[in-house]
Amino acid sequence: TWHMSSFVEDQVLQLREKIGDKKVLCALSGGVDSSVAAVLINKAVGKQLTCIFVDHGLLRKNEGNEVEEIFRNQFDINLIRVNVEDQFLGKLAGVSDPEKKRKIIGEEFIRVFEAEAKKIGTVDFLVQGTIYPDVIESGPGAAAVIKSHHNVGGLPDNVDFKEIIEPLRILFKDEVRRAGLELGIPEKLVWRQPFPGPGLAIRVIGDITKEKLEIVRDADAIYREEIAKAGIDRDINQYFAALTNMRSVGVMGDERTYDYAVVLRAVTTTDFMTADWAQIPFAVLEKVSSRIINEVRHVNRVLYDITSKPPATIEYE
Ligand code: XMP
Repeated sequence: TWHMSSFVEDQVLQLREKIGDKKVLCALSGGVDSSVAAVLINKAVGKQLTCIFVDHGLLRKNEGNEVEEIFRNQFDINLIRVNVEDQFLGKLAGVSDPEKKRKIIGEEFIRVFEAEAKKIGTVDFLVQGTIYPDVIESGPGAAAVIKSHHNVGGLPDNVDFKEIIEPLRILFKDEVRRAGLELGIPEKLVWRQPFPGPGLAIRVIGDITKEKLEIVRDADAIYREEIAKAGIDRDINQYFAALTNMRSVGVMGDERTYDYAVVLRAVTTTDFMTADWAQIPFAVLEKVSSRIINEVRHVNRVLYDITSKPPATIEYE
């Protein structure tokens, strides 16, 4: 729309003026907000921007490569991808408490980001993908925190920079998406559902292993593929598979099995503070279930969550 194109043009001019010939640093998560902020700044000052993308090994199937493809290849943005899966899994080994997981991931994320930033040297500006609802939520009167760290990382306190830039601070989510489309960001990314900073770590209930991550990643990929195929992906605000901490008895051929249960979650919501469980057609659920059972090893049961928020939260941890 004319409105968004003028927002983008105005911002580009203002950012160019403000940044001058200085250097800008951005923590790119692959989420909608940080992506739109990065592409906007790139449009304004090109290679003066460096994006750091921390791949903690807790992303969904193929996500790291998709981020790299879009930002490095399509937009030619200076992108540093740090692959630190082993480092994160090492720190998380044996940890089953949800808040401990979040804390470890948040701290480790900052440490990795700082180490990479140090290699770049002094930067003048740090980009944050803050949008208007974030500004309100963290202001006075914000609701009690049920789960900590709703944005992994927070602010690194050991990176030298002079000023924070928040180019999306006046936009609502739907406006951020329109700005993203205006900037030529692929629809797939612009319409991406929210994904928590701690990633799959909070979708494996209990302690995390590489094997469990692989199970939840594969099951989730199948679920998302079938939802998209059924053409209902834009009707559901968030949907994902999680690995329960339960194993149960099953039968496969003539053999007894004792394997994991995967749970499918899907909700409709406007603000994610309350949510209804989504009524996905049984035929779609049937397809997802049989594909998960047939294609993912060590799963012998697929459950569908029919709980709204409250009393349940959207994620399991
Ligand atoms: P809950 O589970 O609290 O989730 O109903 C509400 C929304 O927040 C997301 N979520 C998180 N996002 N870090 C994040 O960046 C987190 O630790 C986290 N925990 C929950 C969740 O995916 C949902 O969209």
